[in-house]
Amino acid sequence: MEENKRKTAVVSENEIKKQQEFCKKTASVISKRYAEKPLACVVTYGCQQNVADSEHIKGMLNQIGYGFTENRTEAKLIIFNTCAVREHAEDRVFGNVGMLKSYKRENPDVIIACCGCMMQQQHIADKIKQSFPFVDLVFGTHVVYRLPELLYAALTRKKRVFELPDMDGAIAEGVPVLRDNDKKAWLPIMYGCNNFCSYCIVPYVRGRERSREAADVIAEAKELIESGYKEITLLGQNVNSYGKDLSPKVSFAELLQKIAKLDGDFRIRFMTSHPKDCTKELIDTMAEYEKIAKHLHLPFQSGNNRVLKAMNRHYDREKYLELINYAKEKMGDALSLTSDIIVGFPGETYEEFKDTLSLVEEVKFTSLFTFIYSPRKGTPAAEMPDPVSAEEKGKWFKELTDLQEKISAENMKKYKDKVFKCFVYGKGKLGDNYIAARTDGNLIIEFEGSDNLIGTFQKIKVTEPLTYVLKGEKERN
Ligand code: 5AD
Ligand code: SF4
Repeated sequence: MEENKRKTAVVSENEIKKQQEFCKKTASVISKRYAEKPLACVVTYGCQQNVADSEHIKGMLNQIGYGFTENRTEAKLIIFNTCAVREHAEDRVFGNVGMLKSYKRENPDVIIACCGCMMQQQHIADKIKQSFPFVDLVFGTHVVYRLPELLYAALTRKKRVFELPDMDGAIAEGVPVLRDNDKKAWLPIMYGCNNFCSYCIVPYVRGRERSREAADVIAEAKELIESGYKEITLLGQNVNSYGKDLSPKVSFAELLQKIAKLDGDFRIRFMTSHPKDCTKELIDTMAEYEKIAKHLHLPFQSGNNRVLKAMNRHYDREKYLELINYAKEKMGDALSLTSDIIVGFPGETYEEFKDTLSLVEEVKFTSLFTFIYSPRKGTPAAEMPDPVSAEEKGKWFKELTDLQEKISAENMKKYKDKVFKCFVYGKGKLGDNYIAARTDGNLIIEFEGSDNLIGTFQKIKVTEPLTYVLKGEKERN
């Protein structure tokens, strides 16, 4: 037998089979417990990785025999898939879980569960244990594939179930999936993060970086394309370091090329890229293959080199701009750039923040995801002196968003007469006969056209830039 040379663990086929057996056992429990087919409500917070995990959770629940609802008060199973990246997200979860206290009292046959990044922190799990006694099941990010077994335990045992192993994490293949959309798909290619940016909780709650085998990713992409998916987004915390743990090693650019060469009419996206690992080879690949969206989401977090160092980001402003300029050179007007920025990192001064503003001014991003720094327990940044007041940080934040709004408005004007290849996703809002499409960079263009174009790619020429939407017309094919 060939030796398995992977550096990271893979969940065994036997374990996956065992979970399938638990699906059957749990199915029989719920058919006795509920008179009708029970409904589950899966509430997802946070990033696309969580959305993808929720699609696997729904896949398993579907196999067990649950239907689905968005309405919590119709559900026999409510699962909160939580996010820990900022405090605000955590507060919302506590608020929403708290609201179910009386619902559970009146409906004791309902199961309430919490999972995801937030639960993977000891102090949060302790708080749920002590202050939210009506939560029946809590499970961490490393055991999502074991949901059938854990749910079985929650349904049959008298005790609450807490399954939160602290581990590096493994790869589980063959877990059922029920996707939210039939044209757009999330495709995780790797899990975890090894970067330990000093402000970030992700490496602590999602474990070490580990890549799926290229063959598994490609097989899933092929399956999606064959069943009519048009937009596939490859997911990872840092997709640029894909494949480093595989043997033989496969680079992210190579994986992208292999998917881009598959037959069919589709578009590939990916996120998130880290500037320290983003290569010119990747940018060349984006430029070369028509099927790869010309969209680069490259978070720079801060435009100031001292702050970047304190953030443990391992690149500087000059290296970032070099990458951006190379990408602009290679892809020209077709390229859409987006980024994440943190305002008010501990110790950041206004002078340093101005370097973030000047970088935003220089690059001219399509859009930005901007965040005020939120201390995360257990991260190095949470221990750093943070003298700037929340009010002051709020002012800086507004200065940044105002600047980006001005740039977006200028960009909109520049789009006039440009032609974009767009994915037509649904009805428009500008009038009855308008339909709406998205460019690579997620700009919305509305144009007059018939509904049968929905779900296809079309070339659209911008005729009139409005404030948030572009008006256009379809080019002849
Ligand atoms: N505070 C504020 N923003 C954060 N992010 C990550 N951790 C924090 C934090 N502690 C932001 C980063 C990252 C995005 C997903 O969330 O900008 O790129
Ligand atoms: Fe967090 Fe940095 Fe990893 Fe992104 S790369 S998940 S910001 S530690």
